[in-house]
Amino acid sequence: NWSMETFIEDSVRAIREQVGDQKVLCALSGGVDSSVVAALIHKAVGDQLTCMFVDHGLLRKGEAESVVETFGENFKMNLVKIDARERFLSKLAGVSDPEQKRKIIGIEFIRVFEEESAKFGDHHFLGQGTLYTDIIESGTATAHTIKSHHNVGGLPEDMKMQLVEPLNTLFKDEVRKVGEELGLPAEIVWRQPFPGPGLAIRVIGEVTEEKLEIVRESDAILREEIKKAGLDREIWQYFTALPDFKSVGVMGDVRTYAYTVGIRAVTSIDGMTADWARIPYDVLEKISTRIVNEVDGVNRVVYDITSKPPSTIEWE
Ligand code: XMP
Repeated sequence: NWSMETFIEDSVRAIREQVGDQKVLCALSGGVDSSVVAALIHKAVGDQLTCMFVDHGLLRKGEAESVVETFGENFKMNLVKIDARERFLSKLAGVSDPEQKRKIIGIEFIRVFEEESAKFGDHHFLGQGTLYTDIIESGTATAHTIKSHHNVGGLPEDMKMQLVEPLNTLFKDEVRKVGEELGLPAEIVWRQPFPGPGLAIRVIGEVTEEKLEIVRESDAILREEIKKAGLDREIWQYFTALPDFKSVGVMGDVRTYAYTVGIRAVTSIDGMTADWARIPYDVLEKISTRIVNEVDGVNRVVYDITSKPPSTIEWE
């Protein structure tokens, strides 16, 4: 019978034993797993931990700020924020193939992490939010790669640092409980799944700052309205995507030629299969009206009504 209090106590003791008086480095993404790992290691060894947060500019609205506020200000961790926005955007310039985008982001993330961690010198340990399910899943080889699911945080093994993986016996729901017990805010503990390549795979085709801005703003409106409607815990994932085309509309008496925003919202157990969420029409109407009125460059909103399979959850 799993008890959270004992788990935390035991982990803290084990981490202290493993690490001794050495230093630990953690890559913080803002996701549930890396956040809980950071909070747990911090509880165990305090200032011996340094967290590195790479802002690749592909996060949702307000997320980078929330990481800094939670870990830097509230938990008072040694937090190093690296502004790599320009760097990622310039690497992605002119690239429209989804897998190519994933690859570029994965490689660039590792480069930034290696360069920056070298500056901190002698970190002997690397904290990672590996879960029990990650270990099981990596043991089952699938015949085809539908999408190369790269996880920001999946670092090369030759980093010459020993791994600290205190969550590797836990399932996701247990990780959330530990996070709550450690005092992490609900927005982090109950964060919906978010892909490592972030908004880059929600901007269909070439990624530009202008398009990212449309996705960020429309997504923020969607999240706000879903939360207001009390649907945020029952819908597994909900976000906006930006297809790479414009269409004609009319605003006032004026013809417009602008982008279409797609809403994707699905129910699922594990992300392997999914059904489109039956969001009430009045909630959809509110979201659509707000997006067209509040987000520059958008004159149309569509709702994705395909399940997975045959579709996938993300559009790329
Ligand atoms: P799909 O689109 O394959 O997504 O139905 C299933 C789940 O995986 C997430 N996803 C990713 N996660 N790196 C990730 O870390 C990726 O490249 C990636 N692509 C999709 C997706 O958000 C959904 O939760």
